Amino acid sequence: MKPGKFITLEGGEGAGKTTQAKRLKEVLDSANIENVVTREPGGTFGAEAIRDLVLDGTHERWSGMTELLLMYAARLDHMEKLIKPALARGVWVICDRFSDSSLAYQGCARGLGADRVAAVHKAVMGGFKPDLTILFDIDPILTQKRVKTRGGELSRFDTETLEFHKKLRQGFLDIAKTNPERVKTIDAALSRDAIAAQIRHIAMKQFEGLRLG
Ligand code: TYD
Repeated sequence: MKPGKFITLEGGEGAGKTTQAKRLKEVLDSANIENVVTREPGGTFGAEAIRDLVLDGTHERWSGMTELLLMYAARLDHMEKLIKPALARGVWVICDRFSDSSLAYQGCARGLGADRVAAVHKAVMGGFKPDLTILFDIDPILTQKRVKTRGGELSRFDTETLEFHKKLRQGFLDIAKTNPERVKTIDAALSRDAIAAQIRHIAMKQFEGLRLG
């Protein structure tokens, strides 16, 4: 049995990842590739409970390091109970955010530093990493408008300053620069259809022999 592929979607707030996760699922479904869509922080019962803790409240509720450890507690549960078992059964996993978010948010925007995040990552996850990461890149000025008009409750991160979101964007772009094989950047200001087409194309290129309609 061939293991499934692990695809993560990353980027700042309101960049359209969630919509594209669903679109990618439809594409895989029509190619008869069994798949599951999940998200971080969350994805399992325990990790969703940690998600509530980490997203609710004010900025000051958690320090950067506490936030990082909560993210990794959730991630370990998610990896052990959902991601790894699915991949082992040959199921593809599409994950809305993963460890690059910890590097960009806690490491860069919150200022913990890449080294500390990498050390926690290694201790908790070993060498585990996605087979493909799609980075949704967009000017935070555009997304701040989207986030405010999309309705629903704002999380602790949605209400951060523009400065925070600029650092975040740079953090993600640096990750893409240092991991060109794994991380592919797309312009998230494009239309939904154009982005979906790009992702399909990127996946076919990344996974040799993959045919998507
Ligand atoms: P969510 O509402 O899912 O955001 P979005 O729709 O933009 O993906 O909330 C997840 C928040 O958690 C988001 O603001 C990013 C943050 N986060 C981190 O700070 N570190 C992490 O490791 C992860 C996975 C998420």
